[in-house]
Amino acid sequence: MTNTYTYFIANWKMFGLKKSVFGLKNVVNLTKSNNFKNIKIVYCPPVTILSQFHQLTKKTKISLGAQNCHHEKNFGPHTGNINAKMIKDVGAKYVILGHSDSRNEGDTDELINKKIKNALLQNLKIIFCIGENLKERKNNKTFLVIKKQIFKGLENVKSIDNIIFAYEPVWSIGSGKVLTADALHNDILNIKKIIQKKYKFKNPKILYGGSVNEKNILELKNVSLLNGFLIGGASQNQKKFIDIIKKTFK
Ligand code: PGA
Repeated sequence: MTNTYTYFIANWKMFGLKKSVFGLKNVVNLTKSNNFKNIKIVYCPPVTILSQFHQLTKKTKISLGAQNCHHEKNFGPHTGNINAKMIKDVGAKYVILGHSDSRNEGDTDELINKKIKNALLQNLKIIFCIGENLKERKNNKTFLVIKKQIFKGLENVKSIDNIIFAYEPVWSIGSGKVLTADALHNDILNIKKIIQKKYKFKNPKILYGGSVNEKNILELKNVSLLNGFLIGGASQNQKKFIDIIKKTFK
């Protein structure tokens, strides 16, 4: 791990009810320990329960995020949607954009670019997901795909100070399949080079996501270029989530 904050971002996807907030207590306690003062935990539950999460976490070091937002910055007739302003209003500081689930449901690079720009206007931090699917990987297109996602997603975005990149190979999400630490190191190195070339930014923040669990973390934590993890399924179970955090530093 690099020596700045290590991020543990919990992406709850379409799971969770109001009562789920009680499952955060031990995580809150963990953040009070001095051993973990250099970690940043960000919960991204469904927006329906963001305010419950906000009540419980507002006096803690835990931050909140949403899982997507609409590309329009102003209020308007977009039934079923929420914009970046609303996300900020409910107490969230982060928003996940470009997740493969959202790309599958119609988010193009152009829409993601609009969303990123609007979220930045609201001073939200962006967890910007990028990653190739299996076919692209097999055809050696991984970095071509990622370069396109980064360049189009960040078109006319001047600064990446508030962007955290999350490399999530689509074939790894929810599948139990992960790269070896060496292979992942190589991928992260290449992605960093793509970002550094565009932004001349020495140290872009980059996370890994895709089937991270309390077992494979022992391998994944060896990728020293990473700034943390974006965790889906395992983050909904506080015991597993805490295990992942603790084992990262063992
Ligand atoms: P997973 O999800 O950890 O369940 O694979 C990761 C994600 O989709 O962000």
